[in-house]
Amino acid sequence: MFTGALTGLQPQNVGAGIGLRLPHLAEVVDTRPGVPFFEVHPETFLANPHATELLLAIADRYPVSVHTVGVSIGSAAGVDRTHLARVKQIVDLVNPVLLSGHVAWSTHAGEYLNDLLPLPYNEESLRLLVRHITQVQDAFGRPYLLENPSSYVGFANSTMTEPEFLAALVSETGCRLLCDVSNVYLSAHNMNFDARAYIDALPADAVAELHLGGFEAEPDESTPGSTLLVDTHGTNVADGAWELYEYAIARFGSVPTLIERDNDIPDLAALITESLEARAHASRALAQDHARAV
Ligand SMILES: [Fe+2]
Repeated sequence: MFTGALTGLQPQNVGAGIGLRLPHLAEVVDTRPGVPFFEVHPETFLANPHATELLLAIADRYPVSVHTVGVSIGSAAGVDRTHLARVKQIVDLVNPVLLSGHVAWSTHAGEYLNDLLPLPYNEESLRLLVRHITQVQDAFGRPYLLENPSSYVGFANSTMTEPEFLAALVSETGCRLLCDVSNVYLSAHNMNFDARAYIDALPADAVAELHLGGFEAEPDESTPGSTLLVDTHGTNVADGAWELYEYAIARFGSVPTLIERDNDIPDLAALITESLEARAHASRALAQDHARAV
């Protein structure tokens, strides 16, 4: 059980940060926009010394959250220690306030797949993930936040719900959770469960960050006439996800939130506008919650 504390954000920095991608690095260094924190994918910087230099300048001025996309914590073959060591170089350079990754796998037999693939939720996968999360937290010397995936199919051999599985990971490893609210919304649509009941079932004390990203509806070829929501990170946050976000803030409190955009990346100004929108939704949810309590 890892017992290290979260560095966390200072109260003045809690709000909605922005996923910082390569096209905006230089602009952030030059213009110093008023954003509470930035989140980066460390894998983007591994072979890019110029980008790493810009990232260091940003980390000097802003809290940085590091969101790993290639750790493949659910891989049956184990976590790639060489990759971990390379990511750790970036982590050590920027000293992030939060460090996270996905409940997923993306490597097999030495092949790296450009996707975050799902795994069943049962005792066997729980044991595997507990072992790997422990390795990762020991390697980084920091708590690791696990993010709920976007789901399109279930497994016949799952014996736990996703919130039960995540809660078991928290209690056995001391990890924390990154709740991607948009993933909850779209998974609830695709898998036909109640999104609010999912939020209620998560261990609230362990939720240390929220994500919001765009998704798109596509025809579901397996069920004519119905749609699948696909996690593209290529559009604005949808109205339904904003409503669920307010519900999540009322349950989890003022948790740092990230606007994630990886495709069709707009101007930095548009992302800042969306982060301000997130802040407004969070303030409204907290005000309503306060009004209910008095
Ligand atoms: Fe996410």
